[in-house]
Amino acid sequence: MKVFPLEAIEKAGIDELRALQLKRLKSTLHHAYANSPVYRRKFDAAGVHPDDCTTLADLRKFPFTTKADLRDAYPFGMFAVPREECVRIHASSGTTGKPTVVGYTRNDVETWATVMARSIRAAGARPGEMVHVSYGYGLFTGGLGAHYGAEKLGLTVVPFGGGQTERQVQLIHDFRPQIIMVTPSYMLAIADEFERQGLDPRESSLRLGIFGAEPWTNDMRASIQQRMGIEAVDIYGLSEVMGPGVANECVETKDGPTIWEDHFYPEIVNPETGQPVADGEFGELVFTSLTKEALPIVRYRTRDLTRLLPGTARTMRRMEKITGRSDDMMIVRGVNVFPTQIEELILKQPQLAPHYQCILTREGPLDCLTVAVEAGAGRSHDHGEVQGAAERLAHEIKAYIGTSARIELRPAGAIERSMGKAKRVVDQRKM
Ligand code: DLL
Repeated sequence: MKVFPLEAIEKAGIDELRALQLKRLKSTLHHAYANSPVYRRKFDAAGVHPDDCTTLADLRKFPFTTKADLRDAYPFGMFAVPREECVRIHASSGTTGKPTVVGYTRNDVETWATVMARSIRAAGARPGEMVHVSYGYGLFTGGLGAHYGAEKLGLTVVPFGGGQTERQVQLIHDFRPQIIMVTPSYMLAIADEFERQGLDPRESSLRLGIFGAEPWTNDMRASIQQRMGIEAVDIYGLSEVMGPGVANECVETKDGPTIWEDHFYPEIVNPETGQPVADGEFGELVFTSLTKEALPIVRYRTRDLTRLLPGTARTMRRMEKITGRSDDMMIVRGVNVFPTQIEELILKQPQLAPHYQCILTREGPLDCLTVAVEAGAGRSHDHGEVQGAAERLAHEIKAYIGTSARIELRPAGAIERSMGKAKRVVDQRKM
């Protein structure tokens, strides 16, 4: 196979990378302070000035940015360029209140396409291949982000978007793409549809899937790889920082996404105190953009929980596969539980399908967790084998996570399918 060279910065040594980051960080802080009244106010209130940043470690003197800052400035109040200079707007809906709106200059769109092309190449795609994009197009950054990057790398893009699962399968069957970009949960729905149409997903033309936009475990990776006969690689990103392509796994190691640190500077902080922690320690991921023009983002609190790891396939640091968002953490009778922990245990039971939801209710003063899960394909949910698996699951949740859970078996197809991000937690306590 023809070898496609990495960008020079992907091969640069640490010193060169850190020097570039510092130069870009200083310029980002100056740009934000000079051109965005919101940042100016926040820096002034914290008593810091962009000139106070002389080393990368000085970044910790600057205030955090949160989703609330973006909401308060709705829609365009945090932009650091006149709206007329933006060529694109995206927004993320969020669960409550107004959406968060982000903007891109022409250079921003170009930078995004570059990091996305780099991501797709790191995942193992090569120019000339065909990619089926099932991430939603529209205000969500998934579809267009994947699209521009794939075109830039030189792939043939099938811009399908989410939904119409039956047609997705038909087109994959007829067009024979090598690559699919989709949320892992929607990949499972597409795999189910292959089987419903009497097609073996392992026989499809697909050889690589680039999955992200929601947490998914290494066990889910193994399950998708086995079921689809493909490589499954993790892509990470968020609209506030850019969109997909902030970090991407390298297919040769599949050991957590490499952060494209020449554009996005990562920190991990203690989620309670906001104090930075050392590389290798767990906490909340915080990003500062280093090259963005329309919406520079300084120390953005992602609420995603992970840790920073040394580079392997690249010099740049990796992040461990995300265990969960602080928003998704359930506290059940004092025990912290993430949906990904439940997912890992479900995947240990072959009689169950990894379509699941965690339902929280209150009985008197007590919180109760119910895990709704489907019987595996071709199995009846009231079959003894499946019920045995449900009992084992309840036992393992108690043993490994430390909380009691009721398991509710549902027939295949009974748990709501999402065309994009799966809704894993249904909190009925406040209803
Ligand atoms: O989900 C961008 C994206 C699109 C990433 C397509 C990857 C692929 P938002 O809608 O703003 O943007 O949601 C961002 O999704 O803070 C994480 O909580 C979660 N997330 C994104 N990628 C991953 C991943 C897009 N690989 C939020 N693993 C982030 C775990 C992820 N969680």
